[in-house]
Amino acid sequence: MSSYLNALDPEHLIAETLVEEDALQARISELGEQISRDYEGLEPLLVGVLKGAVFFMADLVRRVTVPCEMDFMAVSSYGSGTDSSGVVRILKDLDANIEGRHVVIIEDIVDSGLTLSYLVRNLQARSPATLEVCALLTKPERRQTDITCRYVGFEIPNRFAIGYGLDYGERYRSLPYVAALDESRLPEDLI
Ligand code: IMP
Ligand code: MG
Repeated sequence: MSSYLNALDPEHLIAETLVEEDALQARISELGEQISRDYEGLEPLLVGVLKGAVFFMADLVRRVTVPCEMDFMAVSSYGSGTDSSGVVRILKDLDANIEGRHVVIIEDIVDSGLTLSYLVRNLQARSPATLEVCALLTKPERRQTDITCRYVGFEIPNRFAIGYGLDYGERYRSLPYVAALDESRLPEDLI
């Protein structure tokens, strides 16, 4: 392996594990049970936000025991480096009409909250019966806007996280746990 690829090996770049695989799966089971209780008889529509929420969505939906539907949105938030600006572009919109539906947005992580706050306003304008948010991770210290998440997996510190859907430059999404990236150890041309 070239030294460049070697430098990108997760083992060299991870400062510490933030959420172990077992803890993730146990918490996702609890969230699935909670959603199943809250949405009994309501056939909720779970809206996964691509790409970060794919693994969370796939694991969560298999722990929801009431009938539900899945849909996806892809958004890109303009910003520099690891900061989002809150100016959001919809790259893929929903297939479903959500008017009168019980909608739950499934997000990977709430950081500043700007992306989610845009999404909530955008979906609310389509007159769903109810609209709630389920986020696997939240970084409360970074919040720039008031956001109500009905379901939250874990609070994490103000670190750049990778794994379980979260990427750095599209890498590391497939790690089965969430880890803090050690930015000081990244090859310079990637920063
Ligand atoms: P926000 O608009 O600042 O809340 O940013 C939300 C989006 O930025 C998330 O949905 C993620 O895609 C991305 N993001 C925020 N924090 C992290 C992180 O620590 N690691 C990877 N992606 C992140
Ligand atoms: Mg995201």
